[in-house]
Amino acid sequence: MVLENKLGITDSSELARVEEKISKSKALELFETGLLDTFEVGTFEGLANIHRYLFDEIYDFAGKIRTVNIAKGSFRFAPLMYLEASLDNIAKMPQSTFDEIIEKYVEMNIAHPFREGNGRSTRIWLNAILKKELKMVVDWSKVDKEDYLLAMERSPVKDVEIKVLLKAALTDKVNDCEVYMKGIDASYHYEGYNIFKTETLRNKH
Ligand SMILES: Nc1ncnc2c1ncn2[C@@H]1O[C@H](COP(=O)(O)OP(=O)(O)OP(=O)(O)O)[C@@H](O)[C@H]1O
Ligand SMILES: [Mg+2]
Repeated sequence: MVLENKLGITDSSELARVEEKISKSKALELFETGLLDTFEVGTFEGLANIHRYLFDEIYDFAGKIRTVNIAKGSFRFAPLMYLEASLDNIAKMPQSTFDEIIEKYVEMNIAHPFREGNGRSTRIWLNAILKKELKMVVDWSKVDKEDYLLAMERSPVKDVEIKVLLKAALTDKVNDCEVYMKGIDASYHYEGYNIFKTETLRNKH
């Protein structure tokens, strides 16, 4: 099943290819025009603006909260029923230290507010917080993709791995375009989501 898209693409690898190309050029534009610096930092509002900008040409759901429950591997992201409340709470989380910021990032990943494109938009969102609060950003070229994914899979249970990994990749090159663009590299991409209905959850209990 191919995700419904504005481009009328019906082949999933074709969609992945085109989506990557468009979202990358949009991300570059977002950075170079300085528009990114006008977005709210550390709120869902700010993240939604990033997501909308990256994916508006591709998906109707760009910048919008998902309308289905989703899971990756065995992990179920925030149930729809609690999603908006969760996003409000995340916005209120402190962001003055490195640890606080990563804890906020981990919570936003658990929320996974969008149907697709959570990783790329949330990595940009994370660097915007780090830049504003610590005058540092993650240099994603220094983050091994496998290690990153393993640490993110582990993060809802324990966030020490992702903290160590991202701390080692901090740089003060906050206005470096290459450092920024590395965060939306295609090689972070993995398979899509499993969708489940609320009934599935209920039946489990
Ligand atoms: N099993 C998991 N448990 C928790 N978080 C996960 C899991 N698998 C992936 N993630 C997180 O979700 C992100 C992927 O989300 P999504 O596919 O919506 O975003 P993307 O922008 O399309 O992909 P990518 O982050 O791979 O570039 C990963 O970057 C990672 O942070
Ligand atoms: Mg994806």
